[in-house]
Amino acid sequence: MGKDVIIACDFASAEQVFTFLDKFTGKKPFVKIGMELFYAEGPQIVREIKRRGHKIFLDLKLHDIPNTVKKSMAVLSNLDVDMTNLHAAGTVSMMEAAIEGLTRPDGTRPLLIAVTQLTSTDQERMESDLLIHEPIDKVVMHYASCAKKAGLDGVVCSPLEAGKVHDTCGAGFLTVTPGVRFADGDVGDQKRVMTPAQAKEIGSDYIVVGRPITAAEDPVAAYERCVREFVG
Ligand code: C5P
Repeated sequence: MGKDVIIACDFASAEQVFTFLDKFTGKKPFVKIGMELFYAEGPQIVREIKRRGHKIFLDLKLHDIPNTVKKSMAVLSNLDVDMTNLHAAGTVSMMEAAIEGLTRPDGTRPLLIAVTQLTSTDQERMESDLLIHEPIDKVVMHYASCAKKAGLDGVVCSPLEAGKVHDTCGAGFLTVTPGVRFADGDVGDQKRVMTPAQAKEIGSDYIVVGRPITAAEDPVAAYERCVREFVG
């Protein structure tokens, strides 16, 4: 599994995303399509970006009863995405059903990774709103272990948690980490950040980078810098 930089294409329309992607005339970056773009443009946007030669992480974070997730994952698998995700809170049975739905008749399937606790959830809210009273890092590692048990390939997590996830679930269990910023860049609304080089050091398998690339004056140069720092 090669380490790679995934660009979070958080745009509101096909036009905006294509204007952005047209700048990349050399290597076609691995891109993340999230709910905003997918809900605005529908599955056609996935087909079109794929047709242009990009790998795609479809970040729709499924969470429903196992049968619904299984059938929905079969649809996403047909879209030929390379990676997709779900909420580990849906339980091991939901995650197992997701793998079943995602697996194509020839046995291949996109990578499937789990969201553990959202980084917007802190200890206090987890206790008051979700009635979960264990320490949050223990909850995150438990959810990661459940994802592994269900046969998933990895988790989305903070680069600060990547080392511990590998210790708990094994070096081959993928960590996909957002919250990456250049040492000399704006942090924006991300609280706990790391540089691409630090994320590499700590063992992230994929970094997800949005605004440091999409809002850069020269997005291609920013992307290439990320790749240099992270992949080497
Ligand atoms: O622009 P920025 O680099 O902050 O974008 C990070 C991307 O990763 C966004 O698409 C954001 O929704 C996503 N993400 C995150 N933190 C998480 C999970 C996903 O920032 N815990």
